Amino acid sequence: MRSVWITRTGPPEVLEVRDGPDPVPGPGQVLVRVRATGVNFADVMARLGFYPDAPPRPCVVGYEVAGTIEQLGPGADGGLAPGRRVVALTRFGGYAEAVAVPTAQVFPLREGMGFEDAAAIPVNYLTTVLMLRHFGNVKRGDRVLVHAAAGGVGMAALQLCRIAGAEVIGTASAGKHAQLREAGVAHAIDYRTQDFEAEVRRITGGRGVDIVLDATGAFAKSYRCLAPLGRLVCFGMSGAATGVKPSRLAAAKRLITLPWFHPIRLMNDNKAVIGVNLGHLWDGIEFLRDEMLGLLEDWAAGRIRPVVGKTFPLTEAAAAHRYIQERQNIGKVVLTC
Ligand SMILES: NC(=O)c1ccc[n+]([C@@H]2O[C@H](COP(=O)([O-])OP(=O)(O)OC[C@H]3O[C@@H](n4cnc5c(N)ncnc54)[C@H](OP(=O)(O)O)[C@@H]3O)[C@@H](O)[C@H]2O)c1
Repeated sequence: MRSVWITRTGPPEVLEVRDGPDPVPGPGQVLVRVRATGVNFADVMARLGFYPDAPPRPCVVGYEVAGTIEQLGPGADGGLAPGRRVVALTRFGGYAEAVAVPTAQVFPLREGMGFEDAAAIPVNYLTTVLMLRHFGNVKRGDRVLVHAAAGGVGMAALQLCRIAGAEVIGTASAGKHAQLREAGVAHAIDYRTQDFEAEVRRITGGRGVDIVLDATGAFAKSYRCLAPLGRLVCFGMSGAATGVKPSRLAAAKRLITLPWFHPIRLMNDNKAVIGVNLGHLWDGIEFLRDEMLGLLEDWAAGRIRPVVGKTFPLTEAAAAHRYIQERQNIGKVVLTC
């Protein structure tokens, strides 16, 4: 089988396609023949060397796959049989034509669900569920500022806000605004030419928003966008990726300018600052399983629909990374086998 390796840090072209034997499923594992793999910004950060959670290089990243079960390891069942179409949370190893995964991380596809759509669900939607439902307590009438609203997580967040009856203010590059409005965004801000804080103040008549989802790292400004009782969810630092090549100096500058949120200030402001890292919940797989089953139910009922903006063959993973870093993607980017 072929797989895509990060052998060293650098521009997208450092990704290396290698041929090797299929993995052998261990006890409690199944072998999934992969048809689609979700690409996440974390994979880009891993390639740049800015993702401390990534396995040591050389490594194969890839948090999520969809495909067909080919083989069961000893003791593996969970209602999974060879030929079953599934989606799986792999954590790493997903940039490959085959992957061995513990059965607890594998879910049968719902009737009519395509592989590409399925691979676009786990990371984006689980993260969004954590942020908006568990921490954010999003409800009807809330106003939510979603940064990178046209991205993979962003598009998922728009759908959960719509289900809750919340209004979204979204930031994105200008060329994506028409599609954002179609997706239900009430106000789109071009963060590259406009000051999003001033825009949020203008749009909300000075009140601010109830929730901000920020994975760009503009946390100080995002905090100032909150209304009293508002919640800021910090869940990434895409701003540390200043180009297709890693710049440690630029990333370090971003890191040292991160704000500190003092408890006394939080008390007096009546605001909350929340951190989310889905990858650090992997050991609580039962919790993620329940949420994943709920999301598959949401899909079956037509409440959520992943937006797959573009697909690339697995062997063109470098082009997929470049596409994301050039900020061209609307919705999820998926690799296909
Ligand atoms: N903590 C967690 O558990 C968790 C889980 C999933 C994702 N995340 C984070 O959430 C963010 C979104 O993830 P995603 O996978 O859905 O990616 P994504 O939003 O699809 O990422 C690409 C988009 O981000 C925007 N962007 C903003 N700053 C950028 C930069 N410096 N370089 C390139 N693009 C930039 C661009 O769109 P515009 O210019 O149109 O805004 C680009 O098209 C990432 O920061 C990721 O690390 C965190």
